This record gives sequence, C-alpha cells and structure tokens, in this order.
Amino acid sequence: MQSETSQRKPALFGRNAAESAPFAARAEGIRIWDEAGNEYLDASSGAISVISVGHGVEEVVEAMAAQARAFAYVLGGRLRHHPAEDLAQALAAMAPGDLNRVIFVSGGSEANETAFKLARNYHVVRGKPEKYIVLSRRRSYHGATLATLSLSGYEERRGPYGPLLLWEPQVAECNCYRCPFGLSYPQCQLRCANDLQRAIDEYGAEKIAAFIAEPIVGAAGAATTPPDGYFQTIREICERNDILFIADEIITGLGRTGRNFGIEHWGVVPDVITTAKGLSGGYVPLGAVIVSDKVADAFDAAGKPFVHGFTYMAHPVTTAAALAVLNVVQREQLIENARVQGERLFSRLAVLADSEPLVGEVRGKGLLAGLELVTDPWTKQPHAKSLGVTQRLIAAAQARGLMLYPCQSGEGHGDQVIVSPPLTVTAEEIDAIVERLTLALADVRADLDA
Ligand SMILES: Cc1ncc(COP(=O)(O)O)c(C=O)c1O
Repeated sequence: MQSETSQRKPALFGRNAAESAPFAARAEGIRIWDEAGNEYLDASSGAISVISVGHGVEEVVEAMAAQARAFAYVLGGRLRHHPAEDLAQALAAMAPGDLNRVIFVSGGSEANETAFKLARNYHVVRGKPEKYIVLSRRRSYHGATLATLSLSGYEERRGPYGPLLLWEPQVAECNCYRCPFGLSYPQCQLRCANDLQRAIDEYGAEKIAAFIAEPIVGAAGAATTPPDGYFQTIREICERNDILFIADEIITGLGRTGRNFGIEHWGVVPDVITTAKGLSGGYVPLGAVIVSDKVADAFDAAGKPFVHGFTYMAHPVTTAAALAVLNVVQREQLIENARVQGERLFSRLAVLADSEPLVGEVRGKGLLAGLELVTDPWTKQPHAKSLGVTQRLIAAAQARGLMLYPCQSGEGHGDQVIVSPPLTVTAEEIDAIVERLTLALADVRADLDA
C-alpha cells in the first residue's frame, strides 16, 4: 500500500532523497519489502555489513525499549551505566591481544576521528608532541568527516572538497589484481607494505603519529584482500618507528569475515581497532574505538585524560541494542555461520566467474565478497567509466530483487560491487543471492551488447 508521503515531492535532501527509489515497508531476516510489495534480498546488509543479526529481531527491539523506559540518557563522567560497561567488557573479550578499553561513538567516521585524536594525544602525553601526522593508503575509505575524508583514497567522495581536506593518502594500496608497482606476489617482496617505510622516511618518523588501514578494503576497493605477510610487515614497520597501527574494522569487525575481527586472519594485533556498522546490527547508530592497554596506560601513567567527547558517546539505548545484538551473534554462533556460508558464497561465485565474462575477479573473506567487472577477464581491461557499468548492475540487481553495494571504480580499475549478506544467511539464501546476481549480470551484458 502506498502512503501519502509517496506522492509528495521529497523534503529529504542528499543521498537518501533519490526520487525514483521506492519506500521501504517492512523487513525480516535478510529480506526487505517495499510499499508495492516487491521483495529484495538485502545482499549487502545495507551500506556493507550493517545488518548482522537480520532485520526484525524482537529481542533487540525489546532491549532498546526497556532501556529507554529505564533511562534514555545520563551525563557521562557523572553517572556510569551497565549497557556501556557490559558492552565494553564483551568487546574487550572478543578483541585480540591487549585491546581492552573501549570508547563508544555514533558511527564509523566518528570512530576514526576519535582514533586520530587519540593517536595524537597519546604521543603528546608521552612527551612526543612533534608526532601528529596520520598516514593512510591510496585506495581506502575511512569516513565522510573532513579528517577521515582527508585520509581516504576515494576520488568520487573527495570530489568537490579538495581545498577543505587537510591531507592526502601517502602510502601505496595493496592490490594483487592491479599491483600499483606492476609486480606479482611473492616476487614483489611486499613492496606495497614497505611503501609505508618510504612514506615515513619522507616525513621523518619523529613526525608520524599513526597509520590507518582496512584489513580488507570496503567501498574503495570491493573487498581487496592482502596476501600473507602484508599486515605482519606493516605491524613491524609501525613498531620500529613508534607509530600506532589503527585497524579500520568499521566493516570487517564483529564477525563479517568469519573471525571476530578481520585483522586476526593475519595474526596481527593493532594498537587501536575502530568498528561500527554490524556492531549494532543496523538498529541504531553506533561505533566503537577499541584501545590497547599500551595506549590507555600511557594516559594513566601521565595522569592526563584523553581530551575528546561527543554528547552521544556511550549512549544507553544504543549500547543496550548492541549488547542484545552481540548476545544473538554469540548464542546463534553467527561468526561461525559467516565462515561456513562464506565458503559456500565463494564457491558459488567462483562458478559464476567461470561462466560470466564480465567478472574479472572475485575476492574477500567470509561474508564479505567483492566482484570486479571488466571487458575481458584475460586483459582485465576496465569498461569506459561513461558506460556506468556499476550503476547498471545495481539497478539490474534491484529489478531482480537483489540489493548490492556499488564501490569506487575509476582510473585504471574495473567497476566493482560488494556482496555482504547478513551473518544469519542460510545456504538456500546464498544460492538465491547468487542466482539473482547471475541473472542481473546477464541483463547488464545483454544491455552492453545491444
Ligand atoms: C572502512 C570504513 N571506515 C569508515 C567508514 C565510515 O563509517 P560511517 O559511514 O558510519 O561514518 C566506512 C563507511 O562505509 C567504512 O566502510
């Protein structure tokens, strides 16, 4: 049934205004229905990895309502509350190594902003005030605020903001499908990882506070995954130069890749992990900065606070929602499900890639899969940007009842999309996703050939 709002000119402005988009009516599990009754498989979990326990989980809704009834908000620093402390304990137990302290914010960009300020403040309290620069990689996405966008290698999103952006990413990306140095692994000896040392030497280690990277690249590179040794080398370089390593796990955290955190695939312990999206399963906006004892203890030793705050930090209702989400993740063993169904997803996508000439590469881990589309898998030649292949696929998929997420394409890269269904996905649902994706790709190919 169409609501009255559907008939009016949108008052919403910006990304959510798209006049042609249907209104959502309800959702359950991995399915969403619009007002006209059309069904969509939410195969990207919203904006990649947001929906973790599925739509419409009553116990999450109940936890939020119960908390709002008890008290919706208290002033941090004057009163503590159990949802935030319990959630922090739970995250500390899940995080690797000595990552035992947690700061809660309202999303991924705020989490990364917080991590940059934390890194800078950490060096200040240790008596190294000259350390302030944060390094990042050329194909990356760390957020939409000015500092996080400054460090993001995502040309379309940097777009009109050039003069406002403080920095640019300085370190080569790690992408074995299109190596920025034209080399092959392992003969390359991880030149991309060692490019971090080159950038450090250029500025001087005494000026560098931190390095940030996504364990598996999200929207900037459709699940580009590094080879073994890459993050181990990054960790060593950070250690050697007294630089904090921030793992941006906004997408890869909380089970998405079949491990608690994506960086664990390489046995590396960062100094700081930022995470968001699936943390609250899409029910409320929430992000977290998980801080190592090494970093937190430096503030304690100096007797100085971390100078930073937002009104909605560690909000009782959002942390209560995330605690309920985490209970479902653990009780239903959804991280193991992500590993198992991820294997099924990748085996189905490999079959698809063999038969569909548009697909150049399938990559990723667990339930985070990326597809790069090219004119010919042998030459890896990208389609002309003007053809808008990514947008054609997104539209064709939606027409087939499938939601995918578009990624950065552009200069020297193919069109890219992400498939990242909720952690609850079943074997039958994986098959249905790949079936609809196969049809959508055939639609796009027919359209391009016409
Ligand atoms: C890796 C990564 N970091 C940071 C962000 C920013 O998070 P948010 O959009 O919640 O501010 C995103 C969002 O897509 C992301 O994918």
